[in-house]
Amino acid sequence: MTENRIDHVSSLIKKAMDMESSGNRAEAAKIYRDAYNEVMEIAAHSSGKIREKRLHQAESLKKIYESIGGKYVEKDRIGEGKKILEQLNIEPPEIPKVTFQDVAGLENVKNEIMSKIIYPMRYKELSQEYNIEFSGGMLLYGPPGTGKTFIVKAIANEVKANFINVNPSTLYSQWFGQFEKNISLLFHAAYLLSPSILFFDEIDTLVPKRSGSESDAARRGVSQLLTEVGGLTSQKDRNIFIIAATNNPWGIDEAIMRPGRFDVKIYVPPPDYESRKKLFQLKLSEIKHLGEIDYDGLAARTERYSGADIEFICKKAVQNVFMEVIKTGNRVDVTTEDLLEVISQIKPSIDIGLLKKYQDYILST
Ligand SMILES: Nc1ncnc2c1ncn2[C@@H]1O[C@H](COP(=O)(O)OP(=O)(O)OP(=O)(O)O)[C@@H](O)[C@H]1O
Ligand SMILES: [Mg+2]
Repeated sequence: MTENRIDHVSSLIKKAMDMESSGNRAEAAKIYRDAYNEVMEIAAHSSGKIREKRLHQAESLKKIYESIGGKYVEKDRIGEGKKILEQLNIEPPEIPKVTFQDVAGLENVKNEIMSKIIYPMRYKELSQEYNIEFSGGMLLYGPPGTGKTFIVKAIANEVKANFINVNPSTLYSQWFGQFEKNISLLFHAAYLLSPSILFFDEIDTLVPKRSGSESDAARRGVSQLLTEVGGLTSQKDRNIFIIAATNNPWGIDEAIMRPGRFDVKIYVPPPDYESRKKLFQLKLSEIKHLGEIDYDGLAARTERYSGADIEFICKKAVQNVFMEVIKTGNRVDVTTEDLLEVISQIKPSIDIGLLKKYQDYILST
């Protein structure tokens, strides 16, 4: 098998050289790139000295294609990745603008993400020296509106990775009958767009706990997903991170949480007192007409309100003041009272029963 692949690499290199000598540099670069990918694959399946030799060979191929036309290849690769996402009906990839500074609180979550994803990527050589690798995927779970999607966007920004947002509620029905194939295509796109973060939102709808009544096709799709996630572990040069999020961790097929799969699980809790204070500060920071705000008072009054609730409260209060200003023509400040008024009108979106459910889940795992 490896023999065949090596022959294949040789024939690719020969083809690339022919192209190059006939003056077609863009095409040659592409074929060198294919040869590079192939050698990386072979390296991923070998070990010891042989692996080192392959990696060395891959490095040389990379230098060649970069020097003769890395730009063409790069453009091509990204374009192809985008095309696949379009076919799959997934939003175009982006490097989000949100940064870690925009995320209030969630220090534990941030630390975990820093050590598992951001540092290994930023300090590549060092992490290889210490054999630190990011394997499998990460699962974020917690009540709605606590910043799960938001923090993944911030991660993508920190590592300058393409954020690919897979939202199963729309995809599930559209992919009917093509699940397995589409999952492979999706991972291929993530690879073409790498460094990338493949984000599966509402993973519980994609891989619900098995009920025995799923179609064969759905089951095969799920096992394809697991194979792809597992496969990434052995290819640490690929720079694809898989992150999933859910409100219902208890509703997920447990097979996806085995080692090498989504084995890093992080609870994203509702904001605590300090985080709520910070949320109000962040969400009001762009307002030019702001009075003295009693942030402690607001934090004290908003237990069990989510980050999304607090964002909504700020928007609504500012909107109310704005309407007032339009009527009177008088630029007045947004005050603590304006905010408290809105708080009194809306209920926190996280109830005690739900929190208890998460506590029980954490204890049971
Ligand atoms: N910790 C936070 N820091 C800053 N903003 C936050 C935070 N939590 C929530 N928000 C705000 O609330 C909005 C909604 O959050 P987000 O969509 O990330 O929640 P979620 O946990 O993914 O919710 P769901 O489970 O419903 O998908 C964000 O766009 C952000 O503006
Ligand atoms: Mg979300």
